[in-house]
Amino acid sequence: VSGTPKPLLQALRGERPAQVPIWLMRQAGRYLPEYRALRAKAGSFLDLCYRPDMAAEVTLQPIRRFGMDGAILFADILLIPHALGQDLSFREGEGPVLRPLGEVALPEGRDIHATLAPVYETVARVKAALPPACTMIGFAGAPWTVATYMIAGRGGDDQVAAKRMMWGDPKGFAVLIARLEAATIDYLCRQIEAGAEVVQIFDTWAGALPETEFHLWCRAPIERIARGVKARHPTVPVIAFPRGAGFHYAAFEDVDAVSLDGGVAMAFAQQLQKTRTVQGNLDPQLLVQGGEAMRAGAARLLDGLAGGRYIFNLGHGIVPQTPPEHVGALVEQVHAWR
Ligand code: CP3
Repeated sequence: VSGTPKPLLQALRGERPAQVPIWLMRQAGRYLPEYRALRAKAGSFLDLCYRPDMAAEVTLQPIRRFGMDGAILFADILLIPHALGQDLSFREGEGPVLRPLGEVALPEGRDIHATLAPVYETVARVKAALPPACTMIGFAGAPWTVATYMIAGRGGDDQVAAKRMMWGDPKGFAVLIARLEAATIDYLCRQIEAGAEVVQIFDTWAGALPETEFHLWCRAPIERIARGVKARHPTVPVIAFPRGAGFHYAAFEDVDAVSLDGGVAMAFAQQLQKTRTVQGNLDPQLLVQGGEAMRAGAARLLDGLAGGRYIFNLGHGIVPQTPPEHVGALVEQVHAWR
């Protein structure tokens, strides 16, 4: 088994795999009927995240159905605030709800692994069940994006509450980011020790930060996390997804790959790929559309990027409206590309 090459890891090391590797953000989720069935049995979304048997099954569902090259751990970026002691629930149709940080301070000295142990168990179970060429992907949210949910108490399209703290209480904000950084390094290392072979750091709201703050609160923390992980696990690749980073994608140096959102131009992606692996960036709505439009969009990415260091993915996560057949057709097209 250890002799089977893993195309996703090869692409991350800058080697040329026999086929272009593909995985999709949110590849486990509500667009799959088998996910909806298991989700209904689990009760709440958090219960599903903390039940290793069920979370492992949900992680494996898209792999069985479509044969992606990577299996991403089924969990959520908000498990870290939960483990740090912040109340969290997921409400139907509303998304995450947390008790905003201003209302109660986080307790000190809590052992996050006491809460997160089931996640490591999920990683171990998935790893043991994976096809030999499939790579186990761990992940965490980046400090800035996780902080936006912790401060506002909910998701949303503007990060006003987080910016008010960033500029209004710079000391408190710096302490929060530092705590998240340290917890995230530990969390990712434990995922690796349980079997994760690569980790991705999701900074969904990176694009909301002005240039100076982008470097302070998005890029620098992600790079410190990457170095912290590599200090303990030097061979494990790290992928950064600073969504909406634009020109600043080029500033990430201490990671092995960057995941590109849909706004990144082909010519810029080709520049980036000279010095690191790039991943992305098909519009998730093209996966809903399917047919010739999806085929043409995917072909353009393959022709433009697959000659270099490249992993096929979307520019952001799969949406629930996606017909599963379209995902199957996309995986086939990517694997057939020469
Ligand atoms: O397949 C995968 O990609 C792995 C699992 C995964 C989930 N969330 C499962 C999930 C991953 C990697 C995430 C990351 C995540 N979670 C991010 C960063 C990536 C991104 O999409 O930008 C963010 C911002 C979150 C926070 C979060 N979790 C929100 C805002 C929501 C509600 C919105 C929604 O889609 O319902 C969630 C819930 C969530 N996380 C679901 C899933 C499958 C849906 C929950 C359900 O089944 O009801």
